[in-house]
Amino acid sequence: MPGDVVTMDKIVALCKRRGFVFPSSEIYGGLGSTYDYGHYGVLLKQNVKGEWWRAMVQDRDDIVALDSAILQHPKVWEASGHLAGFTDPLVDCRTCTQRFRADHLGDLQCPRKPSKPPGQGPDCDLTDARDFNLMFETHVGPVKESASVAYLRPETAQGIFINFKNVLSFARKKPPFGIAQVGKSFRNEITPGNFVFRTREFEQMEMEFFVPPGEAQQWFEYWQQARYDWYVELGIRPDHLVLRAHEADELSHYSSGTSDIEYRFPIGWSELEGVANRGDFDLKAHAEHSGEKLEYFDQATGERYVPHVIEPAAGADRAALAFLVDAYDEEEVAGEQRTVLRLHPRLAPVKAAVLPLVRKDGQPEIAREIVAALRPILAVEYDEGGSIGKRYRRQDEIGTPWGITVDHQTLEDRTVTLRDRDSLAQERLAIDELPGVLARRLAAPWRSPKLGAA
Ligand code: GAP
Repeated sequence: MPGDVVTMDKIVALCKRRGFVFPSSEIYGGLGSTYDYGHYGVLLKQNVKGEWWRAMVQDRDDIVALDSAILQHPKVWEASGHLAGFTDPLVDCRTCTQRFRADHLGDLQCPRKPSKPPGQGPDCDLTDARDFNLMFETHVGPVKESASVAYLRPETAQGIFINFKNVLSFARKKPPFGIAQVGKSFRNEITPGNFVFRTREFEQMEMEFFVPPGEAQQWFEYWQQARYDWYVELGIRPDHLVLRAHEADELSHYSSGTSDIEYRFPIGWSELEGVANRGDFDLKAHAEHSGEKLEYFDQATGERYVPHVIEPAAGADRAALAFLVDAYDEEEVAGEQRTVLRLHPRLAPVKAAVLPLVRKDGQPEIAREIVAALRPILAVEYDEGGSIGKRYRRQDEIGTPWGITVDHQTLEDRTVTLRDRDSLAQERLAIDELPGVLARRLAAPWRSPKLGAA
């Protein structure tokens, strides 16, 4: 297998070319660092979220789902500490009028002299750093006054804490148990960038796991490992994934311990997901600000306590980007270059493409019949446009693991060829065997071919 050929530019180009992700508002010149997901991008991100829901809720009986509102009472953000402390240090340049994160200056470029960081160009004139709150402010109702101020949520987690009591009263759970949520969050990042890695509008996949205080450390360790394993099971190469414990001076105000799962992106090792031990910070803060008791009473033992919280917090866009980067490959086949996304079949936007060799002789009709038979069990696409080689290339670039070709022989014996995206092996199978064979292969454990032979 060739070495790593992937760059962020190649990922951006492939995403545009194959309709995964487009720059947003493009016909109006774009709006910095916002993106729209096209057909295959939607399907890929949907599969990432689907696998997260499967691992977090469907495969367990100690976690329940929630979908809280994006707009919440402003007191939520007072209690959580976001109003006072969710800030980044900001500097302005009086010359070019651009704004920069004061703590990232070394990684940034002066717009007038890109070989230098901001502040070191000949004309740079930076202000002192000041705190900039990352929450997007808006107004609820028709009157813009201070009483109507609200915020777009900067994380999904708080929606879970403020529903702790509701969930406890209906879900018939006792600690340890968790509440999982997937949804949009908004942060007015000073320097977003690197494609969908850091944007101002993004989707999070967060789970708050409420535990008896004495079990917090054990569950913290459990969730670090479980979340690391989730990425590996879905094909991320283990040598591109690391668990890194935060130093004391990196910890958020609520955290008594955090480990980041970092992925080796083309921009370097960067956070993919954080797993934090939030202690009793959030439930106590919301109890204090709301006047509600947010605790657990164990009727069996007569014990009353505020559960501690372990939080695995992932980003759906960032995870999708990591899966794309890890899957991207190029190789030469019969003298021709091919680009291929070696995605785990469960993540692939399309699982099987059905391709009639020619657009006549009854082949399209049989191909359509196969599509109809497969559609109830997996995502399948019919494609009859262009040469067969071009159609394979297209499916390779969107990561379709299996190609089913209908040819002259199909009309005689109702067999087709089944092409494997990674090995390029072709086998001849009876049409009736396809649903069973593909369902079994989709459910089987998978190992990235980029790792070489086991
Ligand atoms: N509730 C804890 C929390 O929000 P975080 O580390 O700030 O923790 C969790 O965010 C995850 O959300 C990150 O690991 C990342 O995957 C994703 N994320 C955060 N900010 C993002 C941004 N501006 N753009 C894309 N994804 C982001």
